[in-house]
Amino acid sequence: MKKKSEGLRGSLTSYGDAGFSYFLRKSFAKSMGYSAEELARPVVGIANTASGMVSCHGTVPQLVEAVKRGVTAAGGLPIEFPTIALGEPFLNPTSMLFRNLMAIDTEEMIRAHPVDAVVLIGGCDKTVPAQLMAAASADVPAILLVTGPMMTGSHRGERLGACTDCRRFWGEHRGGRVDAEEIDEISGRLMPTSGTCMVMGTASTMACITEALGMMLPGGAAIPAVHADRLRNASESGACAVRMIETGGPKPTEIITPAALSNAFRVLLAIGGSTNAVIHLAALAGRLGIEIDYDALDRLGRETPVLVDLKPSGAHYMEDLNKAGGLAPLLRELAPLLDLDCLTVTGRTLGEELAAAPPAWPQEVVRPRDNPLHAEGGIAVLSGNLAPGGAIIKHSAATPELLSHEGRAVVFDSLDDMAERIDDPELDVTAEDVLVLRNAGPIGAPGMPEAGYIPIPKKLARAGVKDMLRISDARMSGTAFGAIVLHLCPEAAVGGPLALVQSGDRIRLDVPARSLDVLVSDAELQQRRVAWTPPPQHPGAERGWLALHLAHVQQADKGCDLDILAGKPSGARAPA
Ligand code: FES
Repeated sequence: MKKKSEGLRGSLTSYGDAGFSYFLRKSFAKSMGYSAEELARPVVGIANTASGMVSCHGTVPQLVEAVKRGVTAAGGLPIEFPTIALGEPFLNPTSMLFRNLMAIDTEEMIRAHPVDAVVLIGGCDKTVPAQLMAAASADVPAILLVTGPMMTGSHRGERLGACTDCRRFWGEHRGGRVDAEEIDEISGRLMPTSGTCMVMGTASTMACITEALGMMLPGGAAIPAVHADRLRNASESGACAVRMIETGGPKPTEIITPAALSNAFRVLLAIGGSTNAVIHLAALAGRLGIEIDYDALDRLGRETPVLVDLKPSGAHYMEDLNKAGGLAPLLRELAPLLDLDCLTVTGRTLGEELAAAPPAWPQEVVRPRDNPLHAEGGIAVLSGNLAPGGAIIKHSAATPELLSHEGRAVVFDSLDDMAERIDDPELDVTAEDVLVLRNAGPIGAPGMPEAGYIPIPKKLARAGVKDMLRISDARMSGTAFGAIVLHLCPEAAVGGPLALVQSGDRIRLDVPARSLDVLVSDAELQQRRVAWTPPPQHPGAERGWLALHLAHVQQADKGCDLDILAGKPSGARAPA
């Protein structure tokens, strides 16, 4: 028999007298105006991530109220509590440095508070991964509610979406084709409503993946932030949390299984999703002791077509996916490749939910499997002497001619070095060269910022160069595009082979063969290794969160989670 509601009697404060602890808690709760009848109800915690520093969470206060309505109507007691929130463009040096901190905060607040179930409201890139990781570790019935994507903007008659068009216009500005006045005007047109970036960036990707995992109500991923359906979805999420308490689950560990993670990877590939999701899914799997099988992930990529026609791989935006039926048309197309027996937060299986979804209608956003956007999934896993622990490329968003390319390395030792020299007119670089950025990984940067989208050197951009082969141990925004190899593992700062590359070396990328190599002999690399010294310590590294991060963060293949947060290895692997 599963444990059901403990309500306010759960997670009591330690005074050595449980009766007194409950009496005291109830007394303080009554000071907030709750009645005895309300305090006897099962408690649904609501993680409130509203913050003036997270523009993507502007609608969270309304969502909290809608969740409360749903909880109350279903017979529960909704109680909101704040957690850390991470706004992608508002954090220095990068939000990724704080994903694990948010995960710890959320996990510990779920565990320490008297909640029988939780609704976790997230949205911006790192928030949903942090909440999934927290839910998996706390293992209290949990349901994810995303804020939802922004509506599209427009500039002089052209439809715009953040942040693919932010990057495209900035590239045009660097190339001298958009002047300072127009780029300032565009900054007021790119994001016309609250919500998350409306292309298939990391936020949209994680929303789709969360629905595919079963940790969100079916149909919840694509509803725009400002649509009335988003509030109805919030209210229903609250009601669902109460039902989970009544039935004793399912708990996150019953939902996030190797089979569910395989479904999530399959969906990631079919939506042409963000490369960051590979890291987040690795971290989530690690919480449950599940190891990522990167060979299997690459095989999945080769047999999974990209079916969702959204920027940056395609043409449409999230509001178009919502009008096309949300994730349901995609899941129907992928059904033969999915494990439909996986449980969802509703207590029903993915297959049962799919059967209950509204019927399909004609639309142009989700392609049939016999007419894909790209024949292969958007992400390939590479290996070779430059990345013995692996690297990835989102080849659906790259210039096809650069996917098999050999060129001369132009090496930048750090982000500062790159910022200083990339636009130097004297920089020895041509369009055929390979731009290399190192010391930008989880320890090197620190926090593995989204610096992998190395800008095209200004003198080449001005000459019309739009894409070059770029390689780094950094990440890349899911909204970016180009021939960009990321997550080289192990990173340069811990002595990975990327640390040994010198400007002028030849580098060869062969995506069809899944290889990435520097064409330097093993003997020469060994000589360079003997002479290598690690980069200097980061300022502030001796104390606080940064000290904890640097002491415990794992490499990209383990999702950059802290080793002290990982689960006991179970022997299970995903994707299957
Ligand atoms: Fe928050 Fe893009 S900046 S989702």
